[in-house]
Amino acid sequence: MKILLLGSGGREHAMAWKIAQSPKLEKLYIAPGNPGMASLGETVALSATDFATVGNFVIQNNIDMLVVGPEVPLVEGIADYFAQTPELSHVTVIGPSKAGARLEGSKDFAKAFMMRHNIPTALYRTFDGTTLKEGLDFLETMKAPYVLKADGLCAGKGVLIVSSLKEARKEFQEMLGGMFGNASAQVVVEEFLSGIECSVFVITDGKHYQILPEAKDYKRIGEYDCGLNTGGMGSVSPVPFATPEWMKKVEDRIIRPTVEGLAQEGIDYKGFIFFGLINVDGEPKVIEYNCRMGDPETETVMPRLKSDLVDLFEGVAKGDLDQRQVEFDPRAAVNVMLVSGGYPQEYKKGYPITGTDEVEGSIVFHSGTALKDGHLVTAGGRVISVTSYGTDKAEALAQSMENAQKINYTDRYYRRDIGQDL
Ligand code: AMP
Ligand code: GLY
Repeated sequence: MKILLLGSGGREHAMAWKIAQSPKLEKLYIAPGNPGMASLGETVALSATDFATVGNFVIQNNIDMLVVGPEVPLVEGIADYFAQTPELSHVTVIGPSKAGARLEGSKDFAKAFMMRHNIPTALYRTFDGTTLKEGLDFLETMKAPYVLKADGLCAGKGVLIVSSLKEARKEFQEMLGGMFGNASAQVVVEEFLSGIECSVFVITDGKHYQILPEAKDYKRIGEYDCGLNTGGMGSVSPVPFATPEWMKKVEDRIIRPTVEGLAQEGIDYKGFIFFGLINVDGEPKVIEYNCRMGDPETETVMPRLKSDLVDLFEGVAKGDLDQRQVEFDPRAAVNVMLVSGGYPQEYKKGYPITGTDEVEGSIVFHSGTALKDGHLVTAGGRVISVTSYGTDKAEALAQSMENAQKINYTDRYYRRDIGQDL
């Protein structure tokens, strides 16, 4: 099988690492990829949102399968483009149709979908410019803290959680006034849920699904979850409170109704569903859906997936995913993300990175790296990460710490507490 993987971050590096291990793989292309992935496949300089160029590349290279890492091409309809282009319609796309990607691309769609299918989530209402007054009245009926969400994609920045009603009224009006451009033309106001979060992933062929290892990510920049939100500072898998009993509730109340609901509504969905869950007094509720894998969760999920990922992709293509095996590695995995000093605010790029070849007993995944004059340099806020296994999460963290120290660049920063709060 010839596969083209779209994306350039740590998530895609972890997927490429897993795909490259498959005996079913003939050739892996990654677009645009990053320097860390170059040993796993051929990286090609294509933009994931330039569908025509991606399509031509697929035709010219006889590619059988397109695996879409990030959400933007999915929300913009890359799966539909492939399905509707005669020369590309035979290519399997791992990633939902534009209609399916609305689970992530529109918070209002996702909330209404959950209501239609009785899936547990926070109480909410959606407002736009014409219902601003109703929105302000609705806020009066809610309790602090107030949760305001831009309807559309905002690169992870569209959720505001504010402690006072006065501030909530102000932010609500500013959101509707264009704080996030068109993405906040509609705003979801919802009840605040208190609990610990957990990311649950499934792969589905539209009819059947298989549950992948769950993970928890650490969004705050500072240890013990303080400071600003980031794209994710690390992850741990498994998650101790995701016991078989809890996962059964998740499957019965959330996963199955979601997959069946999509099918009932005639929405074509072949790919990953990411359930962002919160454990409220033992009861799982959905905080958000994503139409792709999580980053940095994938950096612990893929290492814990023992089964052949390409075999699962084949199950998606053939519609017999129920016949495929999913086996988990019983060990714990902890991923520690090394970031640029200053991130998630302003930071500098282009610092030389040393020590990646000294890492022993951990897996290195690149996020924001580049090559400059043949040298590896920093090229993003999240730079590079290490994942380690352990008999438990403390052992896995200790191993990741030992190797994280060996990777050096100016103003390097990482959290030393990943997974230890649970
Ligand atoms: P989202 O982009 O929807 O994942 O929201 C970003 C983050 O905001 C989530 O990971 C949660 O930590 C938090 N969050 C979102 N919705 C709620 C809610 N209803 N109650 C509490 N926290 C929330
Ligand atoms: N780690 C959360 C996300 O990928 O959205």
